[in-house]
Amino acid sequence: MNKLETIKNYALENAVPIIQDEGFQFLKEKFLEYHCHSFLEIGTAIAHTAIQIALLDESIRVVTIERDPKMIEQAKKNIRDLGLENQITLIEGDALEVEVQGVFDCIFIDAAKAQYTRFFNKFSPLLAQDGIILTDNMNFHGLVEHPERTNNRNTKSLVRKIRAYHDFLTELEDFQVEFYNVGDGIALARRKKNA
Ligand SMILES: C[S@@+](CC[C@H](N)C(=O)[O-])C[C@H]1O[C@@H](n2cnc3c(N)ncnc32)[C@H](O)[C@@H]1O
Repeated sequence: MNKLETIKNYALENAVPIIQDEGFQFLKEKFLEYHCHSFLEIGTAIAHTAIQIALLDESIRVVTIERDPKMIEQAKKNIRDLGLENQITLIEGDALEVEVQGVFDCIFIDAAKAQYTRFFNKFSPLLAQDGIILTDNMNFHGLVEHPERTNNRNTKSLVRKIRAYHDFLTELEDFQVEFYNVGDGIALARRKKNA
């Protein structure tokens, strides 16, 4: 088993939520299509996506933020095992509290779904002029379209927040946003020309 497969297996065995394969393929395609060289990820988990993006090319710079100490420990180990410490910077802490510097060609929002709008507002100013912001889990396992499929109060509240984020994205004046039905649903936002 190679190192990437080991990371994926660890995620499966320990119920670590990582992006679905189809979603990652889409992210990778867009990253390459928009000639991105820098990647900011909100929600590292065990660095599965951060590592795969860094491995696309050694010139790519990755900054990724994680607040869960157990995830941080495993992410650091994985980054070290792959020898990617020089390419990937792991920022430890709550994404809404830590300070991040730099300009990024691609920003990937994949942390607490209830905070998506706040993540977008905090990190979109760090986006390069022609950069892209992708957000995962816009379908939330089909529940955004079919909220009646759950009776769980917390899940219902989360679904409402993702819907509100969907509307927030749609109404942004400076960004054009497309929604893709791949993986668990991905939103792609780009600055409008002259914005
Ligand atoms: C879906 S997982 C990330 C998966 C990862 N992006 C990947 O594709 O491999 C979400 C992660 O975000 C972290 N997280 C949630 N809210 C956060 C916050 N406010 N700040 C930093 N990390 C957060 C969680 O601890 C969890 O590890």
